[in-house]
This record gives sequence, structure tokens and C-alpha cells, in this order.
Amino acid sequence: MTTSERNLALLQDEAFVDDVTEFFAIRQLYNAAIKQVRTKLEILNDGFQVEHCHNPIHHIECRLKSPGSMLEKLRRKGYPIEMQSLREGILDIAGVRVVCNYLNDVNLVADLLLSQDDIRLLKKKDFISNPKPNGYRSLHLIVSVPIFLAGTTEHIPVEIQIRTIAMDYWASLEHHLKYKTENDVSDSLKCRLKHDVDLLSAIDADLQDIFFQMNA
Ligand code: GTP
Ligand code: MG
Repeated sequence: MTTSERNLALLQDEAFVDDVTEFFAIRQLYNAAIKQVRTKLEILNDGFQVEHCHNPIHHIECRLKSPGSMLEKLRRKGYPIEMQSLREGILDIAGVRVVCNYLNDVNLVADLLLSQDDIRLLKKKDFISNPKPNGYRSLHLIVSVPIFLAGTTEHIPVEIQIRTIAMDYWASLEHHLKYKTENDVSDSLKCRLKHDVDLLSAIDADLQDIFFQMNA
């Protein structure tokens, strides 16, 4: 190996170490943002219980996008494979799913969270008022939360999916069924999945009504 080849190899090694170091620093930021949102939601849920004797949240799930999924999404969107496009273009690296007890709890939780001064709403998709053609229902928010570091503040995006137990039940199984099959789902099976989501939607509305009547 010549001297210039050895120098180039060393530079490449250093660049790799820099990339890995930056990647871990970024993951730590997104992890901090998840923790912050989760804590805010838990505090809201506990406070609501104290004031109104009702827990709007059934449970919360959190996930950090895997490196493989980040790469797949950068490629799918046609973005350059680099840290900057990851930070600017991929807004669901940090994901929080909030599963609510009753239908009205979904907007209640969203409104309570968004009314907090340090939370900034970047994007909102209301698939409950406007379900997807396959029947998928959920409220999706992309918010940014400040993470205070020594000397700087980073605003980190977090995708928050808020839905009822029934919406979560259907979405989880529908995702699992789609993931299991390599073939396209036939129209008749799509129709049955849509029929099921409509039944669950009616149950959500009915349970909300029963809740109102029992608490009147
Ligand atoms: P992604 O590239 O998948 O992140 O989609 P997007 O950036 O266009 O956002 P969108 O709000 O449409 O969907 C984000 C997430 O919502 C998905 O990653 C799923 O978790 C969920 N989701 C959206 N549509 C469906 C659906 O039809 N079925 C199920 N089970 N989940 C869905
Ligand atoms: Mg996603």
C-alpha cells in the first residue's frame, strides 16, 4: 500500500467513526424527545384522573425507527443518504402511539398536549374525520419538542398516533395480515376488512354514548 493509499484509508476510517458518533448523538436526541412526550402524556392522564375521575389514555407505546427503516424511507423518498436529509426529511424517527379508551378521548388528549407552550404542531392528519379508503382510522400529529442540552436547544420532531382501542386493534391486525402475505390482498378480503373496521367504528360510537349515559 502506498503512503497516499494509506492516508486515504485513514481518512475513510475517520469519516466512518464521525458518522457513527453523529448517528448515536442523533439517536440520543430522538430518545430524549420520546421520553419528553411520554412523560407529558402520563402527567396529563394522571391529572385528568384526579380532576375528572377518568383516564383518557389506555396505554402508550413508543418506538425509535430502526437504521434499516430509516435507510429504506430515505431511498423511497429519493433523499440523499446522509444525516442532514435524515434530520430534515424523516419526521417519524421518534414515534409515540397513544391508545385511548373512548372516541372523544382522542381529540381531548391531542388538544391538551397541543395547548402546551413548548409543543409545536408541524403536521396534522385526521384519519378519524377522514378515514383512509381501506378504513384506517387514527389521528396523526407531527410535533416538535425542545431538548435542552449544554448550551443549545434542539427542536426534535415526534410522530404521535392517537387512536382508540378498537382502532388500534384493527390497525395492528390489518398491518400484521398485510405483512404476512406476499400476494396482493384480494378485493373480497379488502371488503371484509373494511366491513370489520366499520363495525368497530360503530362500536366506538356506541361505547362513547354508553359512557356519557353512565356518567350523566
Ligand atoms: P410512512 O412512510 O409509512 O411513515 O407514511 P407517511 O409518512 O405517508 O404517513 P401516514 O400518516 O400516512 O402513515 C404513517 C403511519 O400510520 C404508518 O407508518 C402506519 O403506522 C400508520 N398507517 C397509515 N396507514 C395505515 C393503514 O392503512 N393501515 C395500518 N395498519 N396502519 C397505517
Ligand atoms: Mg412511518
